[in-house]
Amino acid sequence: MSETFTQPMMNRPGVPQVSLLTVTSNSPVARQVYRMTLKGDGVQAMVEPGQFVHIKCGSSASPLLRRPLSICDVDRKKRELTIIYRVEGEGTRYLSTLQSEDMVDVLGPLGNGFPLGNRDKADRVLIVGGGVGVPPLYYLSKCLSKRGARVTHILGFNSQEDSFLTDDFHQLGETYVTTMDGSLGHKGIVTDIMAHWPPESWQAVYACGPLPMLKAIEQHMAGAYQTEVYLSLERRMGCGIGACLACVCHTPDSAISYKKVCTDGPVFKLGEVIL
Ligand SMILES: Cc1cc2nc3c(=O)[nH]c(=O)nc-3n(C[C@H](O)[C@H](O)[C@H](O)COP(=O)(O)OP(=O)(O)OC[C@H]3O[C@@H](n4cnc5c(N)ncnc54)[C@H](O)[C@@H]3O)c2cc1C
Ligand code: FES
Repeated sequence: MSETFTQPMMNRPGVPQVSLLTVTSNSPVARQVYRMTLKGDGVQAMVEPGQFVHIKCGSSASPLLRRPLSICDVDRKKRELTIIYRVEGEGTRYLSTLQSEDMVDVLGPLGNGFPLGNRDKADRVLIVGGGVGVPPLYYLSKCLSKRGARVTHILGFNSQEDSFLTDDFHQLGETYVTTMDGSLGHKGIVTDIMAHWPPESWQAVYACGPLPMLKAIEQHMAGAYQTEVYLSLERRMGCGIGACLACVCHTPDSAISYKKVCTDGPVFKLGEVIL
């Protein structure tokens, strides 16, 4: 008899499901940025860093579409999931009004996350995040640190008021912060800090953030063929499960070939898609 018939599919690692999770906390951590913790059995399925959840933002039909938010941290013992989100529009504004004990309808885990490979203490790994691209990198760094990999972080924000999680990253490894206005850390962009090391210094580079940042990293890492580089993309999404094609991006193979960010990504190997 197949495993499918002997074990219930619900809550199995990696198997997406819809679950009602209970808000345990929801408070601001930076300008217009909130950290929300959600608790419930559905969290047991969320194991892979870089995956995301698709959240229903409201109790009525509007907004109709769920909103994608990255898994920032998971505590499977406590059955608790952390997300960090910036208030952008109707959906995230609704999330910011939720309080402890409110229920949230969550579909996940979705997408393919960051491959951890055989990373261990022999490896030097660079993690680069920008703005609300930073949240999924926290759980990634925790997973890599657990394996003993030497992790260096570079986090970029617009200003100190927009920065978050910097102390948490410091606890996991060497951490550099950049801000556009210089109010915290280095004044400038993340690639200014990356330039301190030859690109081949790293066994792997993992990044998530705004498109211009990812493009700059792509350029910086071009030619460092020994280094595995993984980029996590954010696209407007409709269904989140590969049915609507709202999230497609082109591949270098031909003008008509594409990948879906929701199901083929959000994490892609450098060069796999056109940024
Ligand atoms: C895989 C994935 C993971 C994400 N993880 C996070 C996260 O951890 N934290 C976080 O704050 N945000 C994250 N986002 C972006 C987040 O999904 C959007 O900010 C959110 O959907 C906006 O919804 P809204 O209803 O508040 O705004 P809307 O009213 O839908 O839009 C308001 C503004 O937000 C912009 N926007 C909407 N959707 C996206 C999107 N998918 N990407 C970029 N900009 C968008 C629009 O261009 C518009 O200007 C992620 C997106 C993806 C695809
Ligand atoms: S969001 Fe529908 S196919 Fe990706």
